[in-house]
Amino acid sequence: MSRQILVTSALPYANGPIHLGHLLEYIQTDIWVRFQKMRGHNCIYVCADDAHGTPIMLKAQQLGITPEQMIAEVARDHQADFAEFLIEFDNYHSTHSPENEQLACLIYSRLKAAGHIHSRTIEQLFDPDKQMFLPDRFVKGDCPRCGAADQNGDNCEVCGATYSPTDLKNPRSMLSGATPVMKASEHFFFDLPAFRDLLRDWTRSGAVQAETANKMDEWLGGELQQWDISRDAPYFGFRIPGADDKYFYVWLDAPIGYLASFKNLCEHKGLDFDAFWAPGSNAEVHHFIGKDITYFHCLFWPAMLEGAGFRKPTKVNAHGYVTVNGAKMSKSRGTFIKARTYLDHLQPEYLRYYYAAKLNSGIEDLDLNLTDFAQRVNADLVGKLVNIASRTSGFIHKFFDGKLAATLPQPELLAEFQQAAESIADAYENREFGRAIRDIMALADKANAYIAEQAPWAMVKNDETRASAHGVCSLALNLFRVLMVYLSPVLPATKAKTEALLNCQLDWASAQQPLLDHAINPFEPMLARIEPEKIAAMVEASTENLQPTAAAPVATPATDAPAANNTGIEAIAPTISFDDFAKLDLRVARVVKAEMVPEANKLLRLELDIGLETRQVFAGIKSAYTPEQLEGRLVVMVANLAPRKMKFGMSEGMVIAAGPGGKDIFVLSPDSGATPGMRIM
Ligand code: 2FM
Ligand code: ZN
Repeated sequence: MSRQILVTSALPYANGPIHLGHLLEYIQTDIWVRFQKMRGHNCIYVCADDAHGTPIMLKAQQLGITPEQMIAEVARDHQADFAEFLIEFDNYHSTHSPENEQLACLIYSRLKAAGHIHSRTIEQLFDPDKQMFLPDRFVKGDCPRCGAADQNGDNCEVCGATYSPTDLKNPRSMLSGATPVMKASEHFFFDLPAFRDLLRDWTRSGAVQAETANKMDEWLGGELQQWDISRDAPYFGFRIPGADDKYFYVWLDAPIGYLASFKNLCEHKGLDFDAFWAPGSNAEVHHFIGKDITYFHCLFWPAMLEGAGFRKPTKVNAHGYVTVNGAKMSKSRGTFIKARTYLDHLQPEYLRYYYAAKLNSGIEDLDLNLTDFAQRVNADLVGKLVNIASRTSGFIHKFFDGKLAATLPQPELLAEFQQAAESIADAYENREFGRAIRDIMALADKANAYIAEQAPWAMVKNDETRASAHGVCSLALNLFRVLMVYLSPVLPATKAKTEALLNCQLDWASAQQPLLDHAINPFEPMLARIEPEKIAAMVEASTENLQPTAAAPVATPATDAPAANNTGIEAIAPTISFDDFAKLDLRVARVVKAEMVPEANKLLRLELDIGLETRQVFAGIKSAYTPEQLEGRLVVMVANLAPRKMKFGMSEGMVIAAGPGGKDIFVLSPDSGATPGMRIM
């Protein structure tokens, strides 16, 4: 039976380019949507730019253009990038649209009428120079818990404390450098706690993944807060009806953007909006998002929909983050790769394939290892897949008039390929793309083994065996066709080339119908190998020279590591005096004990023997070393660093290490002969 399915990906902010991190989600969603369409379902994929909020307003100010101009330019770039990555939306809209304003006002007024909106006056940090309230990320100061300087407005990177920006000591505005003052203003709050029971039921209805359900149990078991949905002017967004100079917070109208984009499509295509969004609708609604925004999609969003008389999502599918070469994407290492930079060097289908091969239905991070990427694409797509067609189709033209045979020599081999259809479909349906790809490639291996064993190139050489080559090549091309049916959601361009070669359409059902006695077209190149130089050039083009800026405040908080030149090596820090240097007490230390800190992502707890005493140090080197690799080893430590209280205990010094991070962290071991406690001069 044909299903009615509405699918969304998270709406990208309209203040920056699409990069390979974003693309994981759009590729994942696009594959799922193409699969559903191939299966004959009415699947509609909508998205939009997320155009509101303070960062967008400030970025436009910085550029000296209006927010409207900026979001129009970004929308063009985003859509061009998506189109080239073969992401096929049925509609791409903007949250800064009449449909979204109308729906945001409608939802707000319904929530208000139902008693779910409360107002109260709160005090917040206000920048007296810029005359505006400061969002958390635009305030920095000293951590209220450990005193560490230069910490963000909502959390401390040193001790892990979370707090409100008003708790920061010595706060300063990132916009002007001014000391913020406290200022009162009226805000509107959505009564999230009123929806606790509803959210409990919804979580248990199978609407979220197991990991998310666990997280939601924690949230729902704890103290749910009223959600502040209003912002004061100046703000780029929609005015709240009936309020003076107040705007909807960007996260209020962002998910409503899903409805708005769909509404816009309905208006153009004459579709029935209510058939998808009225309570009790039989249609399905699937959201694809990154794991960082589950809070918005699994608490606020279903509660808002329920409170405003709409149906709730069928499923919220979260995925993990992309790392590149084992570490967070980094501008200094050239691994913060924009979609456009990638497209300047490489084919989109390589990335679609690699992501598909590594995706599953969980929320673990996915590593794009650039060496593995090239090897895998070359081995699988070029070496195994395209090879089947390229080494058999030529014989069909040369010896058999361009026509496939009327019967196949080993129908059971084709049947085996065909029988895999349901299991592969099941993998796609459940977002286990990696399993689908493994099963498809195992079949490709069988097709290649069959061709190698039959050796049609030898058969065509003499008159008695030439006819058999017809059957062998025809079977091989039928096997190729089935594989390409299965891979169509991942490789739409190669699918189109296959359709041209085999002179037929590929839909899911066509895998079950062999192509017999059928004219095909000459083989045209399908996918070339990835040349490693192309990857090197892409990394080079992505490497930014991030020289430290002067102390002047910046409008956008830094997103990346410090100074580097285009060798990938950090620039030398400003000089210090000999006296400063002499203050450092660097000691040889032996790691007597090393252990995991389960609650910390990066830290290991070390006990270090420094001759005179044993110190406890928390070192951020978990990504590069196991505790076993460190125990017994000599390292260099800063012995006179003031002890720091961390969430997990006191850290009494610091281990010296080198490297960019991730797996590449090298602890510096003194030469053999050194003993714990020796001072390093
Ligand atoms: O996190 C983000 O990038 C947001 N722009 C996603 C919004 S998704 C939806 F709620 F609109
Ligand atoms: Zn702190």
